[in-house]
Amino acid sequence: MNILHTSFECYPIAKVGGLADVVGALPKYQQKLGHTASVVMPCYTNDFVKKAKYKYIHEGALWLDKVSYTYAIRKVVSPDLGFDVFQIYIEGLLDTKDVYNYANDTQRFISFQLATVDWLTSLEELPDIIHCHDHHTGLIPFMLKHTKSDPNLQKIPTVFTIHNAQYQGQISFEKLSYLPDFDKKKIGLLDWGNCINPMASAIKCAWRVTTVSPSYMKELQAKANGLEELLRHEKSKCIGILNGIDTQIWNPETDLFIIKNYSQNNVVSGKKANKKWLCDQYNLNIAKPLFVFIGRLVGEKGADLLPEIIEEALSNTDINIIILGSGDTAIEERLTVLRENFIGRCYIHIGYDEKLSHIIYAGADFLMMPSRVEPCGLNQMYALRYGSIPIVRRTGGLKDTVIDIGDDGFGICHDQTTTWDVNYSIKRGIAFYDNQKEYKKNQKRIMKIDHSWDHSANQYVTLYKSLIP
Ligand code: ADP
Ligand code: GLC
Repeated sequence: MNILHTSFECYPIAKVGGLADVVGALPKYQQKLGHTASVVMPCYTNDFVKKAKYKYIHEGALWLDKVSYTYAIRKVVSPDLGFDVFQIYIEGLLDTKDVYNYANDTQRFISFQLATVDWLTSLEELPDIIHCHDHHTGLIPFMLKHTKSDPNLQKIPTVFTIHNAQYQGQISFEKLSYLPDFDKKKIGLLDWGNCINPMASAIKCAWRVTTVSPSYMKELQAKANGLEELLRHEKSKCIGILNGIDTQIWNPETDLFIIKNYSQNNVVSGKKANKKWLCDQYNLNIAKPLFVFIGRLVGEKGADLLPEIIEEALSNTDINIIILGSGDTAIEERLTVLRENFIGRCYIHIGYDEKLSHIIYAGADFLMMPSRVEPCGLNQMYALRYGSIPIVRRTGGLKDTVIDIGDDGFGICHDQTTTWDVNYSIKRGIAFYDNQKEYKKNQKRIMKIDHSWDHSANQYVTLYKSLIP
């Protein structure tokens, strides 16, 4: 089977969050299953792109808001990522350094989708499946069916994955002219809430819709930032498939980012070396349990509560804390102020640092995820693989991947995103840590849990097969 993934992120080329990790891993595992899986994404002007080697394979033109643009498709020749990556270059639109947050994001997203569909019309052999990820590629199912009168394109089954329903990419109908001509009777397929809603359009037009965990799919039927009614209506074509992790990259035995590699056999000394590095670096005490948070500093992750959680925990318990994240300016500022008050007990790194994140997964004792909403969450699975105990709120993918120690499980779970719940869980963590025999037994146990993509990649393939005649 020939599978084409379309996405704005793909690790290691461009990463903002978990979407990149998924799109950088799923095709690799689908290749392992004997399929041809590739990715089409924008050609940014970041460090990866500057160092990579490319082959130009196609050039074309598109119209966007009465302006004509040329686009080029470049195939990544090296480094070898284990699957083909095609990057679309459009000067003035997709040649940005970063992935998102430009004034012309709407034009950028639409131009990428127009170029992708246009490129497909030039291919001798079409993909068997087009798998679109998140709202940036959500108009592709509509475009394939209704903006080209090519029956071959209309026949390609499309799968749309909702990685996070908070971001739907709404566009005012005033910008309808950005889209190519289509039968205006079909306009309802773009509309949700009186605007063009790419995520809603994908839910309506894609052949199948998936979310990144079964629990999140159930939750979306009740609460989906305005999409719940639509998702209930389209329920029969929706399915939750749990994300996996790339166990080649996230492997403490071989991870090149961490200070000392380790396996289940030497987890205690291995983690200790990584923790020591963190403690030396950030003036923390290695004898104390280390609680960490890594992630986007946004409300969905419960990050707005971090200042209160830290103050409460450091006033009443004897632990160390490390926070690595970036996001809402207000949260960043509050954390920056707090950092000065707890020097020697808490280290807060505002920013994005891939290498440091790996060392923290390796050196931490506990990883906190007090998410209000978590479609899947990858951090808890990375923590498990690196022998760090996840402390999670029971929601979405966290509920599907972490079982509480009180229920014969291996992690710590709480029901609400409140300072009280998190601090209560921290205290449970400390008590568990004090029983070093059980704690170490659990460490070995969690490292053995298999969250690799093997299983879920197969589930996607089964789904694709059900769509191919
Ligand atoms: P989301 O995609 O909602 O941000 P996920 O748990 O799916 O959450 O994935 C987050 C990914 O981004 C993980 O690989 C995590 O390690 C990484 N990450 C998040 N914030 C940072 C940061 N500040 N520095 C480095 N890596 C980060
Ligand atoms: C989104 C979600 C996160 C999920 C990731 C990858 O960013 O917020 O929970 O793990 O996508 O699917």
